[in-house]
Amino acid sequence: MSGNGVRRRAVLGSGLGALAAAAAASLGPPAEAAEDQTLRRLAAAKGLIYGTTISARQIARDPAFIGLVERQAGLAVPENDMKWQDINRGAPGDDDYSRADTIAGFAGESGMVLRGHNGLWYFRTPSWFFTLPNRAAKERAVADRITSLVRRYRGIVHSWDVVNEPIEPKDGRPDGLRKAVFLEALGPEYLDLAYRLARETDPKARLVVNEYDVELDTPEHETRRVVLLDLLERMRKAGTPVDAVGIQAHLTAVGGPPFSVERLRRFFADIAALGLTIQITELDVTDEKAPAEIAVRDGLVADTYRRFLDAALDEPAVKMVVTWGLSDRHSWIVRHETNEAKWRKDGLPSRPLPFDADLNPKPAFKAMAEAFANAPTRTPG
Ligand code: G3I
Repeated sequence: MSGNGVRRRAVLGSGLGALAAAAAASLGPPAEAAEDQTLRRLAAAKGLIYGTTISARQIARDPAFIGLVERQAGLAVPENDMKWQDINRGAPGDDDYSRADTIAGFAGESGMVLRGHNGLWYFRTPSWFFTLPNRAAKERAVADRITSLVRRYRGIVHSWDVVNEPIEPKDGRPDGLRKAVFLEALGPEYLDLAYRLARETDPKARLVVNEYDVELDTPEHETRRVVLLDLLERMRKAGTPVDAVGIQAHLTAVGGPPFSVERLRRFFADIAALGLTIQITELDVTDEKAPAEIAVRDGLVADTYRRFLDAALDEPAVKMVVTWGLSDRHSWIVRHETNEAKWRKDGLPSRPLPFDADLNPKPAFKAMAEAFANAPTRTPG
């Protein structure tokens, strides 16, 4: 994409108020001035890719934000625009890839890596799928979804979340798989079908199993870790192609479950021992129970980023860190697309990301920058 200089001037000119100026001053030179201190470069210096979500709408309507993305991120992932229900809002075959194409085009022109999110997600499946008459029709629809999506972005997508959130131990199956639409339609074999087709269609893309609630120190997260590791081991033994695990890591600054550095390290080492790499795919930090005062709140959010990343980046199998948004201007948490328990009771907007809504760096940016700078160097993957 051209016009970076225009966008940069727009960012610099956009509302550097007293608070933002003070925050920027406390962080040293503004991020815009320190090209070698961007998250993209600091991560790349250690063999890591750093990235963020974007949307076609943001590309069309928010050049200042997109300019920040181009400077700070080496990778883009569509927050919603590649999901099946977002591409297909009508009948079978009624696909509209235009928003996903916009993002793919933007990533290419900006020299950014593209993640694919996602092939199958029970939560975003077109309603017609549920009414297909039989197993064969459902299998054809799943196969077509994977092959047409992966083929369209072949050679462009670095990693695919082929199946998003396949486990749910609470559903009570001995294998811990989520009892939802694809499992009910095709049995556990749907995973093998999807990953094999993805591999055949784009042999160079890394194939990822993306999961949530596997990073903290609670019995529930521990059960989910065990189930996920079992699934990965079964996939490896069965020859189902899988290359990486996506750890979503939607974290909580205050009042959330405990975090154990040791447990996370052990879990990551177990994943690495299976010959898989690790991608942190959806990192952000909710602040619903943090005090209202911005400096205090931002400090607590930054500490959460720091503690998590310091532990995670210790494992050389971790190759990628993606935050679920870059600026508080565009976040599912701020938009209240989380469940209500994550909303602030005082009605103040949440501040979950490294840049504030005016695109100024926050303490979370500094925490991430330092975590990248202090991380051991690894072979890129
Ligand atoms: O686009 C419509 C808009 O036309 C309408 O006016 C508005 C009214 O509610 O809704 C808009 O759609 C929303 C969409 O995000 C785009 O903002 C949906 O309601 C909302 O449910 C949807 O939420 C997304 C959610 O996934 C479900 O797809 C979030 O933005 C997105 O951040 C979230 O991302 C997921 C990952 O894909 C998987 N891991 C968990 C993560 C958080 O739930």
